[in-house]
Order: sequence, then structure tokens, then C-alpha cells
Amino acid sequence: MFAAIDFGLTNIDIVVLDPESHTERFATLPGAGSVDMPQLERAIAWMGHRPEAFVRIGVTGGQHRKLPDTIGQTPIVKVDEITAIGLGGLHLADKKQALVVSAGSGTAMIAARGHHTQHTTGSAVGGGTLQGLGKLLLGTSDAQQIDHLAQRGNSNVPDLTLIEATGGALGQLPADANAVNFGRFARPGTSATREDIAAALVVMVGQVIAVIAINAARAEQLDDIVVVGHLVDLPSVRKVLDTVAGYYGASIVIPPRPGFATALGALITIMQNQVDTACG
Ligand SMILES: Nc1ncnc2c1ncn2[C@@H]1O[C@H](COP(=O)(O)OP(=O)(O)O)[C@@H](O)[C@H]1O
Ligand SMILES: [Mg+2]
Repeated sequence: MFAAIDFGLTNIDIVVLDPESHTERFATLPGAGSVDMPQLERAIAWMGHRPEAFVRIGVTGGQHRKLPDTIGQTPIVKVDEITAIGLGGLHLADKKQALVVSAGSGTAMIAARGHHTQHTTGSAVGGGTLQGLGKLLLGTSDAQQIDHLAQRGNSNVPDLTLIEATGGALGQLPADANAVNFGRFARPGTSATREDIAAALVVMVGQVIAVIAINAARAEQLDDIVVVGHLVDLPSVRKVLDTVAGYYGASIVIPPRPGFATALGALITIMQNQVDTACG
């Protein structure tokens, strides 16, 4: 058996592959803030096997480099996170090349062409921003709760629209697209429901990611954008990405199991034995 673990800031994602029975198992545990042996042992215990049951265990994400090189007799193979995101994203979306966007706690954008992966750009706006601002604006940092509220809200209550800002459509943007995130709150007497505020928050986070990704993909001359990470587990976020892709005629693909892309990429890497020797 093989296992790969992505130690993210928010979540620990685990993929276990048994090549004999051709079975894959997936799990997500809440992150514990630190990456150390107790955290590795917790993840392995979840798998229900002892470390020696694994040929190799791949680790990536967060501060995975702090882990030792073995657990018992089993090698711990450190996989560069950019490589893992790129390979995992291409694999899940069944693409040969794409801009792979990891929409996790923060956002990283990787130009992935076959086995070649390179960090292109990113944004500190990501799923952690949704949670942090959710706490400040809505009193909850629970991503699913924010998502549920957002699905019932109208983002154009807090946001100013193009029709108000410019009187109509602008370039490829329709008149009802927003012009200023949360801009109406700068005006006196504005009020909005929690649902409307949640909707505007999701729109702001999703738009930042989508617009940067579209421009980065164009600069890299990549036709497809593949978005992975647990942020796109949220239907309200996926809807914003779709809307922005529609405005600009861009291809934004969200593959199945997007939250496991990084762990899967690490698994692919250790199966191919292409380890990042620089940090191993
Ligand atoms: N059930 C969930 N639990 C935690 N975060 C979730 C959940 N569903 C969606 N999210 C979003 O996913 C983000 C974390 O994405 P993830 O890909 O796990 O990032 P990281 O690898 O940095 O931990 C959170 O900040 C949150 O916005
Ligand atoms: Mg992760």
C-alpha cells in the first residue's frame, strides 16, 4: 500500500492506494496548526494500518519538510507542494496542461505542463479569508455555514453594480455585474441581511481568484484553468467562478474530489519515485 498526506493550514487530506485491490480511500481531518510526528501518527492511525503496512508514505503541504525521513522502517517521502498541486490537478481533470489553481486557505497558481510544474502567481485571498472575514462580518468561521447563508443572499445589496457605477455594461461585463465589492456600505444608511453579506463575501473571494487565474492563464498561454482545493467544495464559490468564466469566455474546470488534488499529486509522485530530492 501507498499513502500520501497533504498537511494544509486548514485541513489534512489523506489518500491511500492499495495497488493489489485497486482501491483508493480518501479522508480529511482538521489541521492541527503544526506538522510533526504526532500529527503524522494521527493521520496514519486514521488509515487503520501500522506504518510498516506502507511501501512509502508521501507528505506534502504546510511545513511537511520538518518531518523525519522514516517512520519505523517506512520511508517518508517529501514531495514539493507545487509539484503535487500541478500533477494532482492535471490528473483529476484529465488534462495534459493547464493553469492549476489551488484554492485552499490561500491561493496558489501553478502552470502545469505534463510533469513540468511552476509556481506562476497566487493570492493571499483564499478559503482562509472567507473564514476570517466570515468571523468578523457574520460571527462564524464555519465555511459550510457561510456557504449556506451565501446561497440564500443577494450580493448586489452590499456591492455596487456597473449600472450604478457607469450606467450600463462595460466591455464583456453585463450591467448587473458588480463594480465595487461591498461599496454600498460606504454610503450612509446601508443595511443588508447576513445572507446578503455572506453572498458578497463569497463573490469577493471567488472573483479575486477567478480574475487573477484568467489573466495568469492568458499570460502563460494555457487554455484551461483547473481549480482544486477544498474552497471549491462550496457550491456558492463554484457558482462565482462559473459566472466570471462566463464573462470572459474562459475555461474554468472544477474536477471531482478537488480537495484531494494535492494529496493525489503527492501519491502520483511517490508511485513514480520522482521525489523532490532537494528537500528530501
Ligand atoms: N468542511 C470544511 N472544513 C474546512 N474548510 C472547508 C470545508 N469546506 C470548505 N472549506 C474551505 O476550504 C478551505 C481550506 O482548503 P484546503 O484545500 O483544505 O486548504 P489547505 O490545504 O490550506 O488546508 C477553508 O479555508 C474553507 O474556506
Ligand atoms: Mg491542502
